[in-house]
Amino acid sequence: GGTTRYEAEAATISQGAVESNHAGHSGTGFVNSDNVAGCYTEWTVTGTAGAATLGVRFANGTTADRPATITVNGSPITQNFPGTGTWTGWTTATLPVTLNAGANTVRITANTANGNPNLDYLEVTQ
Ligand code: GCU
Repeated sequence: GGTTRYEAEAATISQGAVESNHAGHSGTGFVNSDNVAGCYTEWTVTGTAGAATLGVRFANGTTADRPATITVNGSPITQNFPGTGTWTGWTTATLPVTLNAGANTVRITANTANGNPNLDYLEVTQ
């Protein structure tokens, strides 16, 4: 039980970089994905079998939604990441998922050419 935090700067990044220029992030930074569809940040999280809540802390300092596909062990969920006002406007989106016992793969892939929002961390609550 409880909540475990997985920093984005420790995740696997495809087409993006760890940066720290927008205050308020957790840990040493956040992931700034490239502005391209298909870029992703992927975490391996440890679970117990059954229901879980994912929390994704993000900032989107634009006025355009940044929808993404969150896959949990390959099963896709569409998640919108709307504008948060500024790049320091960190906000947490939550979504229900089902985890396996042991290692689980959570990948956030940008659906549009704007890329992902800036990603601070993933939290898993069971
Ligand atoms: C700005 C901002 C970045 C952000 C980027 C974007 O450059 O400083 O942190 O990632 O916009 O549009 O994704």
